Amino acid sequence: MTADDQKRISGEAAAQLVEAGMVVGLGTGSTAAWFVKALAARGLDVRGVPTSEATANLARELGMTLSSLDDVKSIDLTVDGADEIGPGLSLIKGGGAALLREKLVWEASARCVVIADAAKHVKALGAFKLPIEVVRFGHPHTGRRLADIAAEFDLPPPRLRTAERGVVVTDGGNVIYDMASGVIADPAALAGALKSVTGVVDHGLFLDLADEALIGTDDGILRLHP
Ligand code: A5P
Repeated sequence: MTADDQKRISGEAAAQLVEAGMVVGLGTGSTAAWFVKALAARGLDVRGVPTSEATANLARELGMTLSSLDDVKSIDLTVDGADEIGPGLSLIKGGGAALLREKLVWEASARCVVIADAAKHVKALGAFKLPIEVVRFGHPHTGRRLADIAAEFDLPPPRLRTAERGVVVTDGGNVIYDMASGVIADPAALAGALKSVTGVVDHGLFLDLADEALIGTDDGILRLHP
């Protein structure tokens, strides 16, 4: 099975969790796209709350009914991908630069299910660079404060994310700094330190948020709980 096949079966399994009438958080990324497609194919009467413009566009193309987070009181179930799934369903997210809207939608949800291919399941978080969303105003200064925090945690300075067109700007108009690690020994301590910096909007550590993981493997779906 390819990684994409594993993503597809995890997305399809998650789509089976949805019931008619639900408000459903729609994650971002290639795995979440499989979920959105499988959910649309079921033709249920549900409302989707997208976590990015990219997901909103996909869901609209598939004819889904959408609401913004502003317009719903709560979300029954959110399904989203991850860059890494570590112990206790601690996660790194934000590879697709959607971490802020993702976290807002996750935190408004009664139940959060993370879906992924088997390679995302790791013994410790940190091989994937941790994304940190930073407001644009004065971001080089914020970046230097992040470098100080990185040094405290024995990590190299984070780097501003760029792409072919230049600096990557999120749906919220912010920039992303990626913090290289290797192993994040104490995710909660790092999360707290990052949030203490003025200018940091949020970071890609999703701790104590996922209720369940559905991981696509060559042997089928591996279900994990915290
Ligand atoms: C988007 O910002 C991310 O949090 C994605 O959920 C994450 O990068 C997983 O993406 P893939 O499903 O494309 O691997």
